[in-house]
Amino acid sequence: MRILVIHGPNLNLLGTRESDIYGIKTLEDINKSLRDLSSELGAEINIKQSNHEGEIVDAIQESGTYDALLINPAAYTHTSVAIRDAIAAVQIPAVEIHLSNIYKREEFRHKSLISPVAFGQISGFGPESYNLGLRAAVSIANAKKNAS
Ligand code: DQA
Repeated sequence: MRILVIHGPNLNLLGTRESDIYGIKTLEDINKSLRDLSSELGAEINIKQSNHEGEIVDAIQESGTYDALLINPAAYTHTSVAIRDAIAAVQIPAVEIHLSNIYKREEFRHKSLISPVAFGQISGFGPESYNLGLRAAVSIANAKKNAS
């Protein structure tokens, strides 16, 4: 079971970035928690962060050997047809993650271009969104394996 985790733009700044919204945990704290949980769940994870839309598209296109994708597209959630199309193009279930509840925030964040091509979305649980998302990704991937 292999899961690809993608963190989008500005998430490398977690810990110092708008901590009233995103909390004080750093990206490395979140990644450590994901690594611990993945070994508990018997999954192998590979984690990438990029501030560049094209790099994220490349990573999704190259995700063919993974069983599921866990992605926080960050600001690209609301703008990127390219990331949406890349997820639609690969046959890998994607779980969309947000630290904050995007529906409680500014109106421009209420629209996700990613949700229609994601298996599901987890939004608003802070860093715990990632752990919930990883559990969801492993469960979806297991169900897919058992069905085939
Ligand atoms: C975010 C929400 C986005 O609207 C924002 O642009 C981010 C982070 C979140 O995790 O809450 O950068 O994806």
